[in-house]
Amino acid sequence: MRAVLDRTKRNWWKSAVFYQIYPRSFQDTNGDGLGDLPGILRHLDYLEELGIDGIWLSPVYDSPQVDNGYDISDYRGIWPPFGTLSDMETLIREADRRGIAIIMDLVLNHSSDRHFWFREALKSRDNPFHDYYVWADGTPDSPPNDMRAAFGGSAWTWVPGLQQFFFHQFAPEQPDLNWENPALRRELYDMIRFWVDKGIGGFRLDVIDQVGKEPLKGITKNGPRLHELIRELSREAFREEGLVTVGECWGADLDHARQYSNPDGSELSMVFQFEHIQLDSVPGATKWDLAPLSLPALKRCFERWQHGLFGQGWNSLFLDNHDLPRIVSRWGDDGRYRVQSAKMLAIMLHGMQGTPYIYQGEELGMTNIRLPLEEYQDVETKDAWRSCLARGFPEEKAMEAIHARSRDNARTPMQWSDAPFAGFSTVSPWLPVNPNYHEINAQAALADPDSVFHCYRRLIALRRQYPVFRDGSFTLLEPDSEQLFVYTRDTDAEHLLVVCNFTASSVPFHRPAAFAGAQLLLSNYGEPLDTLRPFEAQLFYTRKETC
Ligand code: GLC
Ligand code: CA
Repeated sequence: MRAVLDRTKRNWWKSAVFYQIYPRSFQDTNGDGLGDLPGILRHLDYLEELGIDGIWLSPVYDSPQVDNGYDISDYRGIWPPFGTLSDMETLIREADRRGIAIIMDLVLNHSSDRHFWFREALKSRDNPFHDYYVWADGTPDSPPNDMRAAFGGSAWTWVPGLQQFFFHQFAPEQPDLNWENPALRRELYDMIRFWVDKGIGGFRLDVIDQVGKEPLKGITKNGPRLHELIRELSREAFREEGLVTVGECWGADLDHARQYSNPDGSELSMVFQFEHIQLDSVPGATKWDLAPLSLPALKRCFERWQHGLFGQGWNSLFLDNHDLPRIVSRWGDDGRYRVQSAKMLAIMLHGMQGTPYIYQGEELGMTNIRLPLEEYQDVETKDAWRSCLARGFPEEKAMEAIHARSRDNARTPMQWSDAPFAGFSTVSPWLPVNPNYHEINAQAALADPDSVFHCYRRLIALRRQYPVFRDGSFTLLEPDSEQLFVYTRDTDAEHLLVVCNFTASSVPFHRPAAFAGAQLLLSNYGEPLDTLRPFEAQLFYTRKETC
């Protein structure tokens, strides 16, 4: 049996590995084609075998599902197709029994337009809930400024009955909450305490860097009062030592990340920042403008973050989530070297300092899907087609961008087995199953000791065994190599070497002398040769001589 982390201990999450579940696509148990809470319960043993310490659960609250639950109409209720509050309580309890914490997704920047608050707010300008949202006067065809919403169109929507615009950074069905209003903030804190009292282990905070917005000045991310607001939130709602909190911050640079994850604990445990993930886009353009990944740039980016937060904050480590394409299709090779490259990317990431997050199916090496346009479900993808064409993309180029970057790539149903619909459901699911499920599925992966799954399982166990993974300093070697990603990690007592070949070619490599007699902890091939094979990755370990 693995050792379970003591979650009352300060900073327990620095030793943890988390697993993200997108409930809609995890496991359907009642034949409606949608995943549900009992489906998660069914696979807790699987997650325990993988060895993870916590589940970040994408939103399960009641919602009209315009943005798959990131539009919440009742923060204290469960969306009925997912189950009931009692299913949620069972999940928290059963996960806890296995030493697995449940981390809920808090969407605090906006609500659904169906939330009671917004429906009240629409009634009149002096309704007590009106000020829970962000309004501007004007005339129907002259919004206060030209800010655009993330899913297309203006960020201002006109309400004839009020003769006012309301502000929304995402879909019009996701009106932004007004964090300048103390009563609103108090409601949010009370709601968080409701979940803490149910035994929740922590929270992932959706687009939290956008709550300090000042829309009339055109400010969304990193507003002037942002950190003050986060400190109040932390003080009022996250007072227990043991809660882990991770903020989703597309706007975070190192300075902001140091503040968020300040070791004094006054803000959050850590943030998701996206610098590495945006390197293969055209700077200043949209995510649909594809650019090749420069390996030296990627290495420099990781190096900057590894150094920049060392002793001054805390990193999260991730390559995949429900908003991103599958990493093996993006930076690996989802054809011939799928298994090798998926493992290489895992070893590259998990060797670094920080708390790793594995997104469902990443541990199987699940890949992107190519769907005909009409089968995409995602609100962002639908807008991408329109906006790419409006920007003059030819249709093939727009389709290529969608195949490469659509969020639905990550949202196809979890591939459990070779059974119809990959064992996800007994009926045709809400989004097609990737046809490669006959080959790529959990049942096959569990049975094969060389699978991607077992590589992740070993990585998790190694991180638990050797303190250097948590504590070691980071040194980048071969910074200019276009093929290799090589780094070391060091403590006074331990020394770790991570060697990754990012290409499908053989690349000569000589191990640094300090690792001549080192132990090979993990590799995606057999014993090392003088040349690294396609996508080969090696993890060497040695204890330092002490005199
Ligand atoms: C975050 C979520 C994403 C959602 C958006 C609006 O980026 O991860 O899925 O669409 O916020 O809530
Ligand atoms: Ca279901």
